[in-house]
Amino acid sequence: MSLIDKITSKTARIGIIGLGYVGLPLAIAISESGFSVVGIEVDKEKASKINVGESYIPDVESPAVEKAVDEGRFSATTDFSAIKDLDVISICVPTPLSEMHEPDISYVRSAANEAGKYLKPGQLVILESTTYPGTTEEVVLPILEESGLTVGKDFYLAFSPERVDPGNKTYGIHNTPKVVGGITQQCTELARSFYSQFVQIVVPVSSTRAAEMTKLLENIFRCVNIALVNELMLLSDRMGVNIWEVIEAAASKPFGFMPFTPGPGLGGHCIPIDPFYLSWKARQYDFHTEFIELAGKTNESIPYYVVSKISQALNSYEKSVNGAKILILGLAYKKDIGDTRESPAIKIISLLEGLGARIAIHDPYVDEKVIGTKIYKSATLTPDIVSESDCVVIVTDHTGVDYNMVADNARLIVDTRNKLKNFVGSHIVRI
Ligand SMILES: NC(=O)c1ccc[n+]([C@@H]2O[C@H](COP(=O)([O-])OP(=O)(O)OC[C@H]3O[C@@H](n4cnc5c(N)ncnc54)[C@H](O)[C@@H]3O)[C@@H](O)[C@H]2O)c1
Repeated sequence: MSLIDKITSKTARIGIIGLGYVGLPLAIAISESGFSVVGIEVDKEKASKINVGESYIPDVESPAVEKAVDEGRFSATTDFSAIKDLDVISICVPTPLSEMHEPDISYVRSAANEAGKYLKPGQLVILESTTYPGTTEEVVLPILEESGLTVGKDFYLAFSPERVDPGNKTYGIHNTPKVVGGITQQCTELARSFYSQFVQIVVPVSSTRAAEMTKLLENIFRCVNIALVNELMLLSDRMGVNIWEVIEAAASKPFGFMPFTPGPGLGGHCIPIDPFYLSWKARQYDFHTEFIELAGKTNESIPYYVVSKISQALNSYEKSVNGAKILILGLAYKKDIGDTRESPAIKIISLLEGLGARIAIHDPYVDEKVIGTKIYKSATLTPDIVSESDCVVIVTDHTGVDYNMVADNARLIVDTRNKLKNFVGSHIVRI
């Protein structure tokens, strides 16, 4: 049977390399659409959890994993030789930055090496990890062709960026359009058919580079606009203008304006990192992506601004940061999820610790977090812990937190999310 027939009859066997925030929800969505899916994961503990029907990703409920596993539509393994029995292989491994702020595509290389070792004619390989334009063609393709097989003839290769937005209850895998670009027209067509089986709209583009660049444009758009509004927040603060009021008023314009809000700084595995994949690649073309650099610089400065705001607020109460009891509300990088990767809360806590503050934290989604040499355990949020703190800082605006109680009991609050916009009082300081 040809690959296209296997895909349309859902008899194609699917493999997902890397079962993290992206790979696990994808594996479940594919298996729920009727395919049989194997997850290939280097982390033994994650693979074992999957095989007993346990999820470790908040967006995926354990019963969904359990059902897929029990019905024999999903299993996980650490053994890459499973690849030889698959028809479609999707690579969802991390793409972080190195210490020198350069793309670290070692995970992509390693996954491609494994795929290449077991590659066989008729297979479709799709890279989903966010990366710079050229990765699929310049890095993954040569590795796969070391097998002696030729792309477009013996096997197929495409790039399709993952657009998952953790915690988003409106847009998930099925109703978020999927962009695909293949090395050849047939690669694009096969990838388009595959995703059409479980995604409502698939958007084909002319090349893997165009698909790679699409994802970066989306994330750079957010990064630059957040930086712009953060810069205007800094200026508004000096001018005595309430930036939140200004954004709300500007958003009343029904066309030509899209509201972005200031905050304590960027976080997560995508927006603070992905733009630098493009800046790095641009240098190869003697091109400087100045918007990205400037946005990065502005966004990185915001946690320092938050700390200075806390310091000024304490100062007006004749207190110094040194020795102050500070309660941080929210460690996750955004509301209603437990992901702390690149979270601005981590930088703010480190800076405050360096100044001698005594930090307590509360985050309903994070039990504990190691920052530097210290373990921070999430404290129970009670009127006592709030009233005993010299300052409460709202870093992440999780939905389930009792902000009325916080506003009523705190001596001083620094609100980085305008969560207390309906509260008045000189003890509430907005960024
Ligand atoms: N998290 C998001 O919201 C999001 C959204 C869109 C795109 N992305 C992109 O998707 C990619 C994956 O991100 P993530 O958040 O899922 O990362 P993650 O760290 O949550 O998951 C990656 C998984 O891959 C595994 N892994 C690493 N190397 C491997 C290998 N060689 N073989 C098999 N498994 C391997 C890890 O153990 C981990 O479980 C990144 O490129 C990221 O930029 C992430």
